Formats: sequence, structure tokens, C-alpha cells
Amino acid sequence: MHTVAIWGAGSMGRTHANCYKQCDETHVKYVIDSDTEIAHDIAALCGAIPQAHPEAALKDPEVDIVDICLPTYLHRECVEKAAYAGKHVFCEKPIALSCDDAMAMTETCKSNNVKFGIGHVLRYFPEYEMAHDMIISGRLGKIGVVRMSRTGPFPRGWKNWHSDSNRSGSLLLDLSIHDFDFLAWCFGDVERVFARCARHDRPLEYALAVVRMKSGVIAHVEGSWAHPAQFSYEFEVCGSLGMIEFDSCKTQPLTVLAESVQTGKPGVAVPESPLKDKHPYLRQLREFLAFVDGKITPRVAPEDAVKALRISLAAIKSARTGEVVPV
Ligand SMILES: NC(=O)c1ccc[n+]([C@@H]2O[C@H](COP(=O)([O-])OP(=O)(O)OC[C@H]3O[C@@H](n4cnc5c(N)ncnc54)[C@H](O)[C@@H]3O)[C@@H](O)[C@H]2O)c1
Repeated sequence: MHTVAIWGAGSMGRTHANCYKQCDETHVKYVIDSDTEIAHDIAALCGAIPQAHPEAALKDPEVDIVDICLPTYLHRECVEKAAYAGKHVFCEKPIALSCDDAMAMTETCKSNNVKFGIGHVLRYFPEYEMAHDMIISGRLGKIGVVRMSRTGPFPRGWKNWHSDSNRSGSLLLDLSIHDFDFLAWCFGDVERVFARCARHDRPLEYALAVVRMKSGVIAHVEGSWAHPAQFSYEFEVCGSLGMIEFDSCKTQPLTVLAESVQTGKPGVAVPESPLKDKHPYLRQLREFLAFVDGKITPRVAPEDAVKALRISLAAIKSARTGEVVPV
């Protein structure tokens, strides 16, 4: 039996709480959030104790896993606190805002002998998993060009933290990192990146990155926080023996595009796979539990999360300087 403390009960804390409810042998004992109302709501979902502060959970010997769903700028501090308390740690992506922080966190987990998982959930979306397997098997031949896109409304998280690049890292770090991780998973190391980014005072943000892999593959990665309402994602992979394409919008028979702000509710879009029986967030957390039990090697190592972060940081630098940035 695993006993979990969820730290951060916003959009992702809620998603993880719902997943743990479906995991046998797992009990969420604490939900920690500085907003006590939110902590109560999510704790009620899974029969947990709401807490405004982490101390009780970190001291509780029953708790063996701390699941961190806090804004990105808090990841390093909180992952390290949990590791020092001897807890295994699952942390939402992006691992951190800088590679130095990410490597320090990885080291702290290693030296405290606790397991460390990062939520690069795209690897658990069945459509991306299938594309990865086809690429690796050689079924599409030699891959030349890849196009990836991830677009949605501006996220309305706690205290608007996404709009502050010192807290979220901005679109290329918070959102496009999913696609950068997928590229590294499929094609290995990146050689260089060129990116352009448009911001607007609403705030809206749009970015386009061209990523040249060391293997020669060229990828276009589009990210947007300027869509009026719908969160969607697409990819197209072109090889010498064929191509594969996916568009999350095509799985929906009816599409309504209305300003999401009209609902008046805060929140961050959490993508869902149209293949409902293969819930990616649940599969991801189940795999982390199996990793903690020593049954498997994880699909996402902390080093993978650092690689994805490095690509995001290179793209941000390119967008700022207007130059091609080697990775
Ligand atoms: N894997 C994915 O698909 C995905 C999707 C969205 C977000 N994320 C990532 O998950 C993380 C959390 O994002 P979110 O969308 O859930 O954010 P959110 O804004 O919805 O929620 C953040 C929560 O943290 C709480 N909080 C803030 N500071 C705190 C503190 N010091 N102590 C305790 N609680 C505190 C807030 O009250 C809020 O409830 C981010 O790193 C984000 O990039 C991942």
C-alpha cells in the first residue's frame, strides 16, 4: 500500500487525485494547498486530510510518496523538502526553470535514496506512444520532417502565475516542452533550435520553433496560448516509407469555439486523450508506483526531463536573441 500526499491542488492536483482514486493499493492521505478552500475540495474527492502547510505530511512516516503539482517556480524547493524527508517524489513537468535547479533536484533525490518521477505525460498518450513505436521500429522509413502543434487558451492558474515568465518560464517552457520531450524521446539529441515568439498584452502568446535533431530530422513545433477556447494538439511525421498524422480536433464530431473567459471560472486546460480507456495521467502514475516498487525502469528519467528543459531554454534564448541556438 502506498500513502500519498498531493502538494498543490489546482488543475493538476485535481487530475492526480482523480487518478489515485482509481489505483488500488494507494491511499491519498493529505492534500496540501495554501488555499484552504481548494485543499478541502480536493481532499474531499479522495477522503484525504486537507492541509495548508506540508509539515504534517512530511513528518508522517506512513506517507511514502509526495506528488508535487505546484507552480513550476516552486518545484525545486518542494521536491528537495520531500526528498530530505525521505519521501519518493513525483513532480509535474517542467522539472524546473533552470538546468542547474533540475540537476540539483535529481542529485538531492539520489543522495536521499528516493525515487524521482517527472510528469512528461505525452509519452503515455496512446497516439503519441504509437507514433513513437512506429518511428523506432523503422516502419515509416527514414524520417525527414516532423510537425507538432499544441494550442489552447491562455491558462488561468493560481494568481495568474503563467503570465510571469519568472514563475512559469513562459509558453516555450511550460507548454512546448511536451513536444520537445517527445522529439527527444523519438529522435535523440537536438543540434540547434531557432524560434520566434509573439506576445500580446492580453496576455496571449504564440511561438514557433524549428528544431534540428542531430539525426538530421527537422521538426516544426508550434505552441499557442492565444486560442479563444479549445485546447488541441496535432502531429505529422513524414518518413521515406510513409507518414502518420494525428489531430485531436478530428476526434470530436462537434466543435464550438467560444471565449473560455466567458465561463468566469479559473483553470488550466488539461488535455485528454480521445482514447478514453487509456487515460494517460492514470497510466503515468501507475507506472510511477511500479517504479517505486522496483518493478520497472521508468519511461521518463530525470535526465530526460533535463534534456527537454534544455531544448525549451534554447528556444527561449533564440526567440529573445533572434539567433540560432545550439543545444
Ligand atoms: N502534465 C500536464 O499536462 C500539465 C498540465 C497543466 C499543468 N501542468 C504543470 O503542473 C504544475 C501545476 O500547474 P496547475 O495547472 O495545476 O496550476 P494551478 O495554478 O491550477 O494550481 C496551483 C496550485 O498551487 C497552490 N499553491 C501555490 N503556491 C503554493 C504554496 N507555496 N504552497 C501550497 N500550495 C500552493 C495554489 O493555491 C493552486 O491551488 C505546473 O508545473 C504546470 O506546468 C502540467
